Amino acid sequence: MKLLLIGSGGREHALAWKIAQSPLLEEFYAAPGNPGIGEHAVLVALNIDDHDAVLAFCREKGITFVVVGPEAPLVAGLADSLRAAGLAVFGPSAAAAQLEGSKGFTKDICARFGIPTGAYQRFNNAPKAKAYVREQGAPIVIKADGLAAGKGVTVAMTVEEALAAIDDCFEGAFGAAGAEVVVEAFLDGEEASFFCLCDGKTLLPLATAQDHKRVGDGDTGPNTGGMGAYSPAPVMTPDLVERTLKEIIEPTMRGMAELGMPFSGVFFAGLMITAKGPELIEYNVRFGDPECQVLMTRLKSDILPILYATATGTLDQVTAQWHDDPALTVVLASKGYPGSYEKNTPIRHIPAESADAKVFHAGTAMKDGQLVATGGRVLNVTARGKTVSAAQARAYALLDTVEWENGFCRRDIGWRAIERE
Ligand code: AMP
Ligand code: GLY
Repeated sequence: MKLLLIGSGGREHALAWKIAQSPLLEEFYAAPGNPGIGEHAVLVALNIDDHDAVLAFCREKGITFVVVGPEAPLVAGLADSLRAAGLAVFGPSAAAAQLEGSKGFTKDICARFGIPTGAYQRFNNAPKAKAYVREQGAPIVIKADGLAAGKGVTVAMTVEEALAAIDDCFEGAFGAAGAEVVVEAFLDGEEASFFCLCDGKTLLPLATAQDHKRVGDGDTGPNTGGMGAYSPAPVMTPDLVERTLKEIIEPTMRGMAELGMPFSGVFFAGLMITAKGPELIEYNVRFGDPECQVLMTRLKSDILPILYATATGTLDQVTAQWHDDPALTVVLASKGYPGSYEKNTPIRHIPAESADAKVFHAGTAMKDGQLVATGGRVLNVTARGKTVSAAQARAYALLDTVEWENGFCRRDIGWRAIERE
């Protein structure tokens, strides 16, 4: 198979690393990729927003399968453009990607198909949103409707904080994403993520994971894209996984098909495990970053036939085998992240991979023959172990051999699971 992978983060490096192990792979391209992905695929400088250019490249190289990593090109309809030209694509249509692209859309799907989630209202102006907040009281959650790189959500502990968040949204803090606001009931519980493939009519559950969104140890400081993750998430007992499938994922799959926008790709369900059971916080329509890194580290099966089956409506014909051992990944980020940080700082040494540990590249680049850090989240040090504590010890031991002065990380990734062990 000749394959093109779209994306350039740690998630895509993990996918590339796993895809490259497939005996079915003949030629492998990635756009734009990063130096880690470049160890497995030929990197191409394509403008992903230019769907015709992506298609022309696929035609030129005889590429038949495109795997889309991030959400933005999916929301922009890249999968639709490529599918219309006869290519197989892993990733949903623009219509189905609204599950991530519009929080209001997802809440309406939940209301219509009886999916458990916090009570909510949608607003397109501040006065009405504020009146609703005053009526409901705090704690309460204010969300910009559109894609806001994970920054559009305020969990407000006071009414004043909620009112300020509403002003921020409508005053343009999140650009067009904040033109509409969802005000949502605060859900109390432990968060977990559930990943499940869907080809429109069949589901293949993958695994559970837990992210660490706050920048600081002990879950303190501002939100980030994710500072580390592990899989599986012990909070997700087999019973809760079953309930998540029956009460959340299956009704979404059926509902989307019924509305004429069948979902194809990966459901990444952000869940709150409340006293009532699993409730949906949000959907993402792509793998999590850094959750994908731990999923790929645990997956035993060849991923290529699984992704291809998802894209071609034959998910009922494949299965996925997993290492029982947990995997854990620690994000090394540039000092200052998620605020401003220095770019192009040199990374002098990255340790080699072993059977069950690997450093994935996220925001890295080659400049004049030197590997440098260009992003906020830069490296993902990932390991498997018999327990989460063992995986954690291995990941931090490996991380401490990375030579990069401008990097920092959390030192407590996995603490919830380790407390349980
Ligand atoms: P999201 O971007 O929707 O994942 O929201 C970011 C974070 O805000 C989530 O991971 C939760 O920690 C928190 N959050 C979102 N919605 C709620 C809610 N209804 N109740 C409590 N916390 C929430
Ligand atoms: N780590 C959270 C996300 O990928 O959205």
